Amino acid sequence: MVALALTACTSASPSAGGSGGASAGGSATGGGEVEVFSWWTAGGEADGLAAMLKVFQEKYPQYEFKNSAVAGGSGTNARAVLATRLSQNDPPSSWQGHAGQELIGTYVAANQIQPLNDLYESEGWLDVMPQGLIDLISQDGNIYSVPVNIHRANVMWYVPDKLTEWGVEPPTTWDEFLDTAATLQGKGVTPLAMGEQWTSMHLFETVMIGSLGGDGWKALWDGSGDWASADVTDALTTYASVLDYTNEDASTLTWDQAAQLVVDGDAAFTIMGDWAEGFFKSLDLEPETGFGWAPAPGTDGLFDFLSDSFVLPVNAKNLDGAIAWLKVAGSQEGQDAFNPIKGSIPARSDGDRSLYDVYLTSAMDDWASDTVVGSLTHGVVANDAWKTKIDTAIGLFLGDHDVAAFQQALVDACASDGACS
Ligand code: GAL
Repeated sequence: MVALALTACTSASPSAGGSGGASAGGSATGGGEVEVFSWWTAGGEADGLAAMLKVFQEKYPQYEFKNSAVAGGSGTNARAVLATRLSQNDPPSSWQGHAGQELIGTYVAANQIQPLNDLYESEGWLDVMPQGLIDLISQDGNIYSVPVNIHRANVMWYVPDKLTEWGVEPPTTWDEFLDTAATLQGKGVTPLAMGEQWTSMHLFETVMIGSLGGDGWKALWDGSGDWASADVTDALTTYASVLDYTNEDASTLTWDQAAQLVVDGDAAFTIMGDWAEGFFKSLDLEPETGFGWAPAPGTDGLFDFLSDSFVLPVNAKNLDGAIAWLKVAGSQEGQDAFNPIKGSIPARSDGDRSLYDVYLTSAMDDWASDTVVGSLTHGVVANDAWKTKIDTAIGLFLGDHDVAAFQQALVDACASDGACS
C-alpha cells in the first residue's frame, strides 16, 4: 500500500497502541437503537450503506439500526444538521466524517469525538490500515476514526459510445479540454456537466491539481506554496475558462443529476469522485461499456484522495452499539460488502480484490502506484474555517469570474484561517 505523503496541518504521530479513551468493550451484548448519521442517500452510496448494514445486522442482531441520512452530496446539508445536534448535546451513535483536517481541525478541536486506540489494538487495525491514513486521523498519539474506504476525486466520467459519436476523446490536459469543449459545443453538446456549488469546488480542486501538479497543490496547504503566484493565476484563469463550458442550470442540480446528463447524452463529461461509479452501477450501467473514466485532465499519475470514516462521539448514543458499528466499519467483511457497491476501495490493505470490478481494481492499482494528494472539498487538506472562506470566494467567482479578486480572497483565506496564518 502506498505511503501517503500528504500535507494536512496536523502534528499527528500516534504511538502504536497509544492511550485510547474508548474501550473496545469485548463482545457487544447490549441492545437498543444504534443511530448512524451520514449523507449517503443517492444511488450507489445508499446501496453501499445498506450492504454494510446487512453485515451489521447479521453480526449484531440485538441492535435496532436507525439510518439518519441527510441528503446532499459531500455532506453540505448533513454537516449543518449535525452541527446543530452537537450544539444541543444530541450526538448520534456514530457519524460519517472525512479523514484529515475535517476530522482533526473540527471535531477533535472541539472535543466532540473520542480516541479509538484500544479498538485499533483489539481489532488489529494497526496492521491493516495504511500508516499515512492513520496519521491523518490522529492527534497527539490518539486515533480518532475508523476509515471505511478510499475514494478518488480526480476522475472524468463519460459514455464511450457517445464520445465516438461526437468524434472526441477524453482530454489529457486542460488545454486539450478547452479544444475538445469547443468542438462539443459546436455540436450542441454541453461539454462538462456540473452541479451545485460544492461540485464547483470539486472542479476547482481538480483544475488546480491538473495545472499546478501534485507538489504545487500540496505546497498550498502546508504553507510552503504561494497563493499569490503567477502559476496560481494561470490555474484560476483556466478554471474560469472551464466554467464557461458547464451547464447553465448547474446550481440547481445535485452531483448525481449532473452525472445523469452524461448518461442521457446531454453532456459529454463530468468530473466527480468515484462514488459516481456507484451511481452508474445503480443504473445497471457496466464499466467500460455503459460508462468510461479517465484521470481529470493533467492529473494522470496523481490520486486526489479522500476517505470516509466513522467516529465515536463524546456522549455517544448507545456506546456498546456504537462500538459494534465501528467494528463492522473497520472489518474486512464490512468493507468488502460496502465498497464494491459504493464505488470505492477498502481502506484496509487486505480487501478481497476478486470482489471489485474493472474500474475499482484499476483504482486499487493507481492507489498503490500514483502520487497521492489530498482533497479540499472532501475534508483532507483544510479545516472547516479555511474551507468555508474558500467556498465563499468560489461562490463569488462563479458570478463574476474576476480572477484577481478570487486570487486575493484565496491569499486572504490562507492568511486568516490556513497554513499562511
Ligand atoms: C463525499 C463522500 C462520498 C460521497 C460524496 C457524495 O464527500 O466522501 O462518500 O458520499 O460525498 O455524496
